[in-house]
Amino acid sequence: MGQPHLFTPLTIKSTTLSNRVVISPMDQYSAVDGVVNDYHLVHYGKFAMGGAGVVFVEATGVSEVGRITNGCPGLYTDEQVAAFRPLTAFIKQQRSIPAIQIGHGGRKASTQRPWEGGGPVSPDEIAKGDRIWTPLGPSDQALAEGWLTPKMMDSADLQRTKADFAQAAARAADAGFEIVEIHMAHGYLLQSFLSPLSNRRNDGYGGDRAGRMRFPLEVTEAVRAAWPDDKPLFVRISSVDGIDGGWELEDSVALAHELKARGVDVIDCSSGGNSPKGATNANLKRGPGFQVPFAQRIREEVGIKTMAVGLIRTPQFAEEVLADGRADLIAVGRQALVDPFWPLHAAQYFDIDPDFTKWPQQYAWWLEKWDKGLRAYEAEQAAE
Ligand SMILES: Cc1cc2nc3c(=O)[nH]c(=O)nc-3n(C[C@H](O)[C@H](O)[C@H](O)COP(=O)(O)O)c2cc1C
Repeated sequence: MGQPHLFTPLTIKSTTLSNRVVISPMDQYSAVDGVVNDYHLVHYGKFAMGGAGVVFVEATGVSEVGRITNGCPGLYTDEQVAAFRPLTAFIKQQRSIPAIQIGHGGRKASTQRPWEGGGPVSPDEIAKGDRIWTPLGPSDQALAEGWLTPKMMDSADLQRTKADFAQAAARAADAGFEIVEIHMAHGYLLQSFLSPLSNRRNDGYGGDRAGRMRFPLEVTEAVRAAWPDDKPLFVRISSVDGIDGGWELEDSVALAHELKARGVDVIDCSSGGNSPKGATNANLKRGPGFQVPFAQRIREEVGIKTMAVGLIRTPQFAEEVLADGRADLIAVGRQALVDPFWPLHAAQYFDIDPDFTKWPQQYAWWLEKWDKGLRAYEAEQAAE
């Protein structure tokens, strides 16, 4: 086999990814007042050591009320920016690209960490120092019974939130990130504007698809203007709501055309989440690569780079998706939690790194000798 697609570099704007493996944004709910700490340095650092082309930092609030939980990081204070700097420096030192997803929780904000129940913050968490706040939404309609009722955003809220997104993008550059992704998925603020299930407005920011896309597109323009021109901008979408009467794939194709026209480089094709049943819940059968067809359709119809995500667990399947031209990048989530060195193990699987050059130098020096010694021993044994 020649060079696998998975290990073919990709240049987007001025950033070159050494391979196509992206660690998917995964909330860790472990920040304090939006400030990351040693946990995050070790957690994200190990993916960079594990050879990923890009390491995404989890959904990060553009404002205090934009955080999903009290444990989510933020990019709205200088202290938060300073705490990210050692993390971005370490990821770069390991020859990977630091990326961050910026978002606003909308009507799914002010909730418990998943392991606390995932519903609204309760007296138990408040006793431990957590806060509860009124979430914002396109309409004053709660996600479901028992969830907090959001404040319907007025024009001052819209302007402030747009400015928060722009400022968070500028802070991301200041913190050393090379890629920003706007979180426009999973029932959080921007996706709740897109979906007819959650956007019941009858002003210019609701109604038909163009009206529902207006605020997310204005946010995209503000972020693109604040984020350096030469750096890549990704957008994660829920390609479908997966609920009757909701956002459909043809809507995502139309959205992707508009995002492309506004200088977005990659569409990250997820789905679901506009429901109380789970962060990314949708009425979809979840088998290997179940969201890949979304990435493929958008890539083909819009002519924009796409990232495939969702139950892509083996190097051979990831390679197949890329080789067939169904996506440009592969995001790996839970399988990377199982194996943070997934990319390096994929390189071993393809037998393209016999000298361990893709490994951290501190490991490679030993492993190369260890491996040669073992191979020589096995050859001797076989000859005996
Ligand atoms: C612990 C955990 C946290 C997650 N947090 C986020 C997040 O912050 N932003 C996001 O867009 N998706 C989030 N997701 C979804 C993942 O990015 C990914 O899309 C999903 O897990 C499917 O990919 P996988 O099958 O490779 O895990 C999270 C998933 C997990 C397991």
